[in-house]
Amino acid sequence: MDKPNRLTNKINVGVIGLGRMGKIHLKNLMQAITHANVVAVADPVYPEEQFRKEYGDLLFVKDVIELITSPDVDAIIIATPTSTHAALVEQCIDNDKSVFCEKPLDLSLEITKTLLQKAENLGVPLMIGFNRRFDRDFMEARKAVSEGKIGNPQIVKITNRDPSLPSIEFVKTSGGMFMDFTIHDFDMARYMMDKEVVEVYAKGLVFFDEEMAKVGDVDTALTTLTFADGTYAVLDNSRKAVFGYDQRLEIFGDKGMIQVENNLANRNVLYNENGIHQALPLNSFTQRYIDSYCKEMEAFIGALLNKTPVPIKNEDIIMATLLAYAAKKSMDEQRPVKIAEMK
Ligand SMILES: NC(=O)c1ccc[n+]([C@@H]2O[C@H](COP(=O)([O-])OP(=O)(O)OC[C@H]3O[C@@H](n4cnc5c(N)ncnc54)[C@H](O)[C@@H]3O)[C@@H](O)[C@H]2O)c1
Repeated sequence: MDKPNRLTNKINVGVIGLGRMGKIHLKNLMQAITHANVVAVADPVYPEEQFRKEYGDLLFVKDVIELITSPDVDAIIIATPTSTHAALVEQCIDNDKSVFCEKPLDLSLEITKTLLQKAENLGVPLMIGFNRRFDRDFMEARKAVSEGKIGNPQIVKITNRDPSLPSIEFVKTSGGMFMDFTIHDFDMARYMMDKEVVEVYAKGLVFFDEEMAKVGDVDTALTTLTFADGTYAVLDNSRKAVFGYDQRLEIFGDKGMIQVENNLANRNVLYNENGIHQALPLNSFTQRYIDSYCKEMEAFIGALLNKTPVPIKNEDIIMATLLAYAAKKSMDEQRPVKIAEMK
């Protein structure tokens, strides 16, 4: 790379992929995370002229390998389509670059395990973007559960519904409902309950777009997880909620209950003769989870700086991927699937 911008007192970062997530991570790294220094961005497709308009003289390369092999870069952020993650992560590990990669690491459980093991063996930090663990409301809920405020948690209910259908092109390569979408909820259910899942029972169907069925996916799914002590998670997913990005969570225990409600576009409540009216929920993940993306990146950079383990364990990544597999198997075979049979 011709214009290195390396600083010695910071984590020098390269960002790969400048789409929806890449832009969020880049902005956070440049504006909010004081211990990060963005050295360069790589995207083989993004128009250079557009990049110049948006980011001035920040170094931009088309060749991702140039970025991954640069001695000026300590850590790489991967925000490219899922199908490209595994190869890019492996190249980062081979070049001793710490990696933050968007979820899922890969659609194959075997490849996921192999890459995590390889990174661990070579001592390369590797973190996957389960950003909801860094959401303020969910973190508060987790803290209250761990402090015993609702007693023994018996049921966690997670509602995760997108406002509008993804394109069929995206659906074809994303990994489908469970691997692309419910994967956040598999992780949140384990995080909230702090227990291990022993059984998955999932059902799903297509309500909105028959094209989805043709590519083997569903737009609506309901999954029950059973934990080792017999307690439950209920995961409710849709790809199309006409009222917005529906993100709610409830944990019920023998001493109480915690609810996390939707974040609305504003907090006003209008009362009149027709009823009581509130704004709709925020309309996308880029709004609802914006703070969590910053916090997760702060946690990644902080771990590198302090040489502490990244805050999401390999086991968490493996279990979320395994649960996505088990849910698809359960839906396809129309039966509950034991985790023991997946292992
Ligand atoms: N954590 C979350 O909440 C969340 C939300 C949305 C997406 N994601 C994940 O983030 C990833 C990216 O999703 P997105 O919605 O930002 O995608 P996107 O399509 O908006 O952007 C992808 C970018 O990567 C670039 N690209 C394509 N192939 C590349 C390659 N081989 N090397 C380098 N760059 C390449 C494209 O030009 C594009 O700019 C996906 O894995 C997705 O699952 C996570």
